[in-house]
Amino acid sequence: MRTPFIAGNWKMYKTVAETVKYVKEFRALVKDVDGVEIVVAPPFTAVRAAAEAARNSNVGIAAQDLHWEREGAFTGEVSGAMIREAGAEYVIVGHSERRTLFGESDASVNRKIAAACAAGLCPIVCIGETFDQRERQETFDVLDRQIKQGLDGLTSDRMAQLVVAYEPVWAIGTGRNATPEQAAEAHAHIRRRLRQWFGPDAAELCHVIYGGSVKPDNITSLMSQPEVDGALVGGASLDVRSFLEIVTKGRDARLR
Ligand code: PGA
Repeated sequence: MRTPFIAGNWKMYKTVAETVKYVKEFRALVKDVDGVEIVVAPPFTAVRAAAEAARNSNVGIAAQDLHWEREGAFTGEVSGAMIREAGAEYVIVGHSERRTLFGESDASVNRKIAAACAAGLCPIVCIGETFDQRERQETFDVLDRQIKQGLDGLTSDRMAQLVVAYEPVWAIGTGRNATPEQAAEAHAHIRRRLRQWFGPDAAELCHVIYGGSVKPDNITSLMSQPEVDGALVGGASLDVRSFLEIVTKGRDARLR
């Protein structure tokens, strides 16, 4: 069985000082919480401080993006090796905010996944449809394209270690989460495609988590769906107590 995976995406929130305070408090609260992988993703500037504050704890650290080259003349960019050196073990790739606000494409997502794996980082790859695409019944087509082009060329071994985050764009930061049934349907579709394109073993091991307005009061119903392996939490991960509640309720929902 896949261990539940719950990650907090802080986006452009928290200074180094705020990050250290959060991680110190949070690690003490989750030290006896087992049976769940816990990750937080601070902004680049706070990755090292977060990793140091989380050392020898059960809290992993992610960056929120990376560049696909190891180094070079790419002003403003940060490479996978740099992120790994700073102490992160995970990196979010292809978040919808990066796709819509910063021109990220399935082709760049593909290169970034390869770069993350080469740097020894575990990619958390975000996919999901917009409201209009769902209204036009294009959800599965969009997911297929994002999986096919984004994950193209990945070996089954790498695929097995990947985390895929299904994040319907219309649910992100809107307070309007997908219903457990909508999430289950999309997750089942994603897993079906992974099985088809990467084989049953890789598809069985790969985590497919849900993101989009996850809160303490909806995590239990979402994670009661056997296809939902965890959550990528934005706004509700910024507060220690609220993220703790999501982590413990999410874990408990899967243990039942
Ligand atoms: P949200 O963000 O939980 O604030 O909707 C989720 C995400 O962007 O990963």
